[in-house]
Parts: sequence; C-alpha cells; structure tokens
Amino acid sequence: MNYEQLGHTCVVGLGWGDEGKGKIVDLLSEHFDVIVRYNGGANAGHTVCHTGRTYTFHALPSGILRPDRVSVIGPGVALDLPAALKEILALRDSGIPVDENLRISDRAHLVLPYHKLEDHLSEARLKSDRRIGTTARGIGPCYADKMNRTTAVRMADLYCPDHLREHIRSIVERKRAVFQALYPDDGNLDAEAITDEFLGFAEQLRPHVCDTAALLRDAAASGRRILYEGANGTLLDVDHGTYPFVTSSSASALGVHPGAGVPPRLVNTCIGVLKAYSTRVGQGPFPAELCNEIGDRIRAQGREFGTTTGRPRRCGWFDAVAARYAVDLNGATYLALMHLDTLTGLNEVGLCLTYEDANGHAASFPARAEQLYACRPQIEFLPGWDADLSAVRSRDELPANARNFLARLEELLDVPIGIISVGPQREQTIML
Ligand code: GDP
Ligand code: IMO
Ligand code: MG
Repeated sequence: MNYEQLGHTCVVGLGWGDEGKGKIVDLLSEHFDVIVRYNGGANAGHTVCHTGRTYTFHALPSGILRPDRVSVIGPGVALDLPAALKEILALRDSGIPVDENLRISDRAHLVLPYHKLEDHLSEARLKSDRRIGTTARGIGPCYADKMNRTTAVRMADLYCPDHLREHIRSIVERKRAVFQALYPDDGNLDAEAITDEFLGFAEQLRPHVCDTAALLRDAAASGRRILYEGANGTLLDVDHGTYPFVTSSSASALGVHPGAGVPPRLVNTCIGVLKAYSTRVGQGPFPAELCNEIGDRIRAQGREFGTTTGRPRRCGWFDAVAARYAVDLNGATYLALMHLDTLTGLNEVGLCLTYEDANGHAASFPARAEQLYACRPQIEFLPGWDADLSAVRSRDELPANARNFLARLEELLDVPIGIISVGPQREQTIML
C-alpha cells in the first residue's frame, strides 16, 4: 500500500462497528491534511493509543491528536455538543491544542436532550426481542427529526437566538405531547433551559463553525489530501445493514459524499477495517456468534467491551459471507485486518464460508433480519498458532498458520490486506 497513491481515502468499518477504525485513522492521519467525520454521533467510540495514553473519541475526529492537521465534523454528523465540548476541554487539559485545527459544519444536526430521552423511552417500550439495543445517545431520534425537517435544530440555528428560542419552545411543546401520549412521561422538558444551555455551547464553539463542504473543496483544490473517518460500520448502515438492527445513518463508504458534502471525485480509495473475528454490541442477528467458552475467551483476550457503553461485545468467528457483502458494497480497495494477536492460543480458527437457510440451501446475505436469524453458518477450521504476535512487524515473521489464515481471507474476500494490526498501539502494526 503506497500512501502517496491512496488519494482521498475513506476508512470504514466492514462489520457491526468497533473494528479498530480509530487506530487506523490515527495511523493514516500522518499522511493526510484533513480528517473528516461524516456520519453518526456520540454512539461512536474510537480508541487511539499512543505515547502510553489511551484516548477515546465519541464526537471529535480521531485526527485531532495531530494539531497540524485539520479535523472536520461534517454536515452528516448528529452532533452531541456536550460530548464534543467535554472532549475538547479534556484534550486542552492534557496540553493538546484544539483551535483552528477543528472545524464544525454549520449544517450539522444537533442532538438535543429530548432525543436522548426519546431513545431511552422508545427502547424501554419495546418487547425485549424487538429492542435494537441502542447506545441511548439520541441518534435515531435526532436523524428522525432531521428527516422530519420542522422539528430539527442545526448548528447554524444557534447563532439566531430569537428564532432558536421560539423554535425550541414549539418543538418541546410537541415532544411533550408525544411523550405523554406514548410513554406516558413528559420528561420534565424545559425549553428555556435547553435554549440557554445551547446558546452557551454556541458561544464556546463559535470560532470553529463554518461551511465545511467549502473548506474541503478548497483544501482539495490546493492539493491537500482528505481522510474520511466512518463511524459505526457497514452492517449497521441504515440502508444496507441488518435492518432494523442498525444505526440511523449511512455508516458505509456510501455515506461519505452527502455526509461530508463532497463530490464523488473527492473519494478515491476505501480502506475497509475488519477484525480477524466478528463482534457485535446490541441486539440483532449474528450467524457466526460463539455463545460458548471460545467466544468468552476471544472477549477476554481482545478486551471486547463497548467503548461507549461498556457493554460486553458478542464475539464470533470471522464471517466471510458478511465481510464479502460489505467489501462489495463499499468497493473496498484494501483491508485493514485488526486483532490478529487476539486469536493467538486457539487450537483452530474458524471462518464462516457460507450460510445455509432454513431449507438447507446456500443463502446470500439476506434482506430481512428474520432470514439472517434462520441462517446456519458453515464453518471451515484452520490450524491456530501459539506465538505472541504483538512484537511482529512484518508479514513474513508471522507464524505459518497465521499467514495461511490471512491468505485464505484475501482469497475469500478478493481484496488485498494493506495493514495488519497486532495490538492497540500505533507501532503494533504491519504495513504492507
Ligand atoms: P472503533 O470504534 O472501530 O474505532 O474501535 P474501538 O475503539 O471501539 O474498539 C477497538 C478496540 O480494540 C480498542 O480498544 C483498540 O484499542 C483495540 N485494538 C485496535 N486494534 C487492535 C489490535 O490489533 N489488537 C488488539 N489486541 N487490540 C486492538
Ligand atoms: P463505532 O464507531 C458498535 C450499534 C448499537 C446498536 C445499534 C443502534 O465505535 O464503531 P444507535 O445508538 O446508533 O441507535 O444504536 O448500533 N452501534 C454501534 N456498535 N460500534 C459503534 O460505533 C456503534 N454505533 C452504533 O450498539 O446495536
Ligand atoms: Mg467503537
């Protein structure tokens, strides 16, 4: 993988999130000028480890640790202002500047307190098998209001205080009526307090707010390179994921153009991030899931607990059917294969090659969650390896069985692996 030839690049998860996108974005941001979040909100939790510290970003792009790069929150993000401000202040406290290097789209939609409440109440009202298991960050209700149009608040609205106060009053009146009818709980919403709080955020963030789509076009025109940071993952994409057990945004590479506000020619390369096994947080079908001691062992070795909610992640074998579906959908140019180190010590390593449907027929990745629940995974086992991989820095140094596993993955997905990750740290990486 030659960095100079990558062009404008997006990094997207090929699974159900938490593939390790934060590490890859942090690593690649050295070679790019602008890093852009384009979808999702504080449901994301992107981990970056370096110089002995661990940073978790929910709202800010993972490039923010490099003060000489520009980090952008694009118009497609559901922006959680308290979360963003908390991260900005924490970075400043630890001596990392966040000034002109952070730009926030004036078109971004805002997550308001009633969105989080609605997320929680809506989940609580569902029967347990219908719940999505959301992160309760208000993402679904915020995007629903965006589509509804008349009940949305965008960043630019914060700079018209009189209009904002009246607008939030009318939204809150409507939300109260809906909450009382459905839940019943009016949530004690106080329109004046919400308005005052958000006007305060607006003042603190004023220097960062601009038309970021214009900024990206200008940057590209002057030869600067853009790195797009996907949040969530392709299998959580609202159009192409395991609907309805998905998030509410375009979480694949297909969301880059509307979410960042760039024309198609400003995305040249797609790096699909995948683990050497599968994980999922929240509800929904997961054909290759291991509800046994091997799943528990992968969870313990890979520290598979949610970055945003702390929930234990469900673990399973690598699913080549789902991964191939995601590779094809995104048009992935390269794979970044994460957590190879986590599989060390297993006698054999499984790969789900095909699904069998309820009638015993081979099934492609289906449209309906019920069909996916009914699919039985057909697993191929390859011999495992015992060596600690965390200090390995070249593909040739890997144990033969690990190399065979990687070669089989590339064969099944028909995409070259460009990066192999053998630990959370920046340097625990094999660049190919
Ligand atoms: P993201 O949401 O895609 O950015 O991923 P998360 O940060 O939520 O979860 C990935 C977790 O795995 C984080 O704790 C990372 O520090 C960690 N991690 C990333 N790559 C590797 C790896 O290759 N090996 C191990 N053991 N941990 C990794
Ligand atoms: P990153 O960017 C893992 C999952 C939730 C839930 C579903 C809907 O860190 O990879 P939402 O709160 O979006 O309405 O929840 O999507 N989910 C994620 N799972 N990583 C994420 O982000 C996720 N973002 C959403 O667990 O199942
Ligand atoms: Mg995460």
